[in-house]
Amino acid sequence: MEHRDLPLLITWRNHPDVRAYMYSQHQISPAEHQQWFDRQSHDQNSHLFIYSEESQPCGFAQLRVAKERAEWGFYLAPEAKKGTGTRLGKTVLDWAFQNLNLHKVSGEALDFNHASIRFHHKLGFVDEGRLRDHIKINETFHDVLCFGLLESEWAIKREAL
Ligand SMILES: CC(C)(COP(=O)(O)OP(=O)(O)OC[C@H]1O[C@@H](n2cnc3c(N)ncnc32)[C@H](O)[C@@H]1OP(=O)(O)O)[C@@H](O)C(=O)NCCC(=O)NCCS
Repeated sequence: MEHRDLPLLITWRNHPDVRAYMYSQHQISPAEHQQWFDRQSHDQNSHLFIYSEESQPCGFAQLRVAKERAEWGFYLAPEAKKGTGTRLGKTVLDWAFQNLNLHKVSGEALDFNHASIRFHHKLGFVDEGRLRDHIKINETFHDVLCFGLLESEWAIKREAL
């Protein structure tokens, strides 16, 4: 991801279909978006990606590395076609395990995010726990589901996708 991607990314991040599944659900202002990017781009453990197909940007992913483990986050362009998520996931996980010397990638999803839960399972992530009443959204607490994928598991799973 580069600075020039910021205007497109904020339209995805603020779209109701994406925002509804984020931990922070307010409308992000351009200044806040810029500050977020400045922070992330000065952090050598943070990797930001725009995922494109046929030169068309259609998704975003982030990896936050801590030693041999990374946490990931992602969202698609609201108009992305079915199946885009799986291809983004495969591309990002291949890159992460090949380039960052990782043993494990971790993910999290709100308990009502059925697409993300199914997506993690499809990519081979294993359920690792439930953080009860972890995030408050519109005065209601929600559980967060935790997922983990080991390098050895990805080496096998990626062939089947
Ligand atoms: C999560 C996300 C990346 C998945 O992308 P996608 O393009 O829908 O993924 P795919 O089409 O490759 O589908 C992956 C699997 O999830 C399933 N799936 C997709 N949407 C679903 C839904 N609403 N409910 C249940 N399963 C769903 C698909 O059927 C597929 O499983 P299958 O192959 O067994 O049928 C996308 O929905 C997204 O960007 N959501 C908004 C942002 C977000 O939630 N980010 C993650 C925060 S944790």
